[in-house]
Amino acid sequence: MKQLSLFSILCFVLISFDGATATFSEETCSNNGVFMPNGTYDTNRRLILSYLPSNVTAQKGLFYNASIGQEPNHIYATGMCIHGSDPVDCSDCIRTTSDALIQKCPNQTEAYSWPSGPTLCHVRYSNTSFLGSLDLNPRDSITHGANVTSDLTKFMKIWEDLAVRMVDAASTSRSTPSSSDNHYTANIAALTVFIDIYALMQCTPDLSSEDCRTCLRRSASEYSGPCCNTKRGTRIVRPSCYFRMELYSFSKATFVNFTAAAVVPQPPDSQPSTTNNGNFSN
Ligand SMILES: *[C@@H]1O[C@H](CO)[C@@H](O)[C@H](O)[C@H]1NC(C)=O
Ligand SMILES: *[C@@H]1O[C@H](CO)[C@@H](O)[C@H](O)[C@H]1NC(C)=O
Ligand SMILES: *[C@@H]1O[C@H](CO)[C@@H](O)[C@H](O)[C@H]1NC(C)=O
Ligand SMILES: *[C@@H]1O[C@H](CO)[C@@H](O)[C@H](O)[C@H]1NC(C)=O
Ligand SMILES: *[C@@H]1O[C@H](CO)[C@@H](O)[C@H](O)[C@H]1NC(C)=O
Ligand SMILES: *[C@@H]1O[C@H](CO)[C@@H](O)[C@H](O)[C@H]1NC(C)=O
Ligand SMILES: *[C@@H]1O[C@H](CO)[C@@H](O)[C@H](O)[C@H]1NC(C)=O
Repeated sequence: MKQLSLFSILCFVLISFDGATATFSEETCSNNGVFMPNGTYDTNRRLILSYLPSNVTAQKGLFYNASIGQEPNHIYATGMCIHGSDPVDCSDCIRTTSDALIQKCPNQTEAYSWPSGPTLCHVRYSNTSFLGSLDLNPRDSITHGANVTSDLTKFMKIWEDLAVRMVDAASTSRSTPSSSDNHYTANIAALTVFIDIYALMQCTPDLSSEDCRTCLRRSASEYSGPCCNTKRGTRIVRPSCYFRMELYSFSKATFVNFTAAAVVPQPPDSQPSTTNNGNFSN
């Protein structure tokens, strides 16, 4: 019974969102509602987004949430840059991303973006409060055309081990909900003597560990599913979490060697839901 319901949920997810791959853009505009361009909501949106670059970099944890305006034009926004970002890179990233959201989502009440540049940042806005809430949709994905390797079996063994441990690491709280260090991990693992897997996972830092785990597990399971078919490079974005893997270093993030880190005893896992069976599609 349990298996059946999880299976139907997975099918629903795959059927509903498979179409999104073809239309990937860096910005995800929600179809939850529209506003009048140049109206009060739009003015509030431009204002709150124009403050974000300086507001985010003014925070030690590089995560900022704010809201302005009166109902029905009240708008909530968050901005963050990944842990260790240079402040100039961070504010540039937030500015470019905010401008792009205004361009690409001209009248959508809700939108977000995790742009793909060397500095990873995140900007999101909505007319409803979303701080601390898990939002899996709308999601989007993009893959590189080539298969990851000719030896899929070997790749999956290495990948699933890496992904399980990364989801554990990212979902374990290690900072406050207002620091982007929370729910973040970037790792490297050897695929062959010559090729390394680079992967990065981030939930917004305001998420609970449990919600972060749910979000990243979903994305990690989709990687080998119909959207992404275990391609060489893949990004899966959701309002609450980010997932990317490539066979090259795609970010200014410091990728920690998980092979070397494995020698260090892992702290006991407080959440029994992930055993290391390397399988996300339970
Ligand atoms: C947000 O906008 C949507 C679509 O315009 C609307 O249906 C909803 O009632 C709004 N929510 C709030 C809290 O204003
Ligand atoms: C909104 O304002 C801008 C600049 O003031 C103008 O160019 C644009 O045509 C306006 N759009 C609408 C839909 O009124
Ligand atoms: C956000 O930025 C604006 C413009 O730079 C500034 O006036 C405001 O004080 C900042 N707010 C916070 C909470 O830092
Ligand atoms: C929202 O913008 C799109 C694209 O510019 C336009 O086709 C649509 O009519 C707009 N909807 C409303 C309600 O203004
Ligand atoms: C890529 O993988 C798919 C299925 O996993 C397979 O059908 C296809 O032949 C592979 N393509 C190449 C070029 O190896
Ligand atoms: C969100 O903003 C409020 C008000 O500025 C602040 O008190 C709170 O700590 C912030 N929460 C997070 C998770 O950053
Ligand atoms: C990771 O560490 C292991 C063990 O120290 C080492 O053999 C391997 O070359 C390292 N891999 C990368 C990609 O740096």
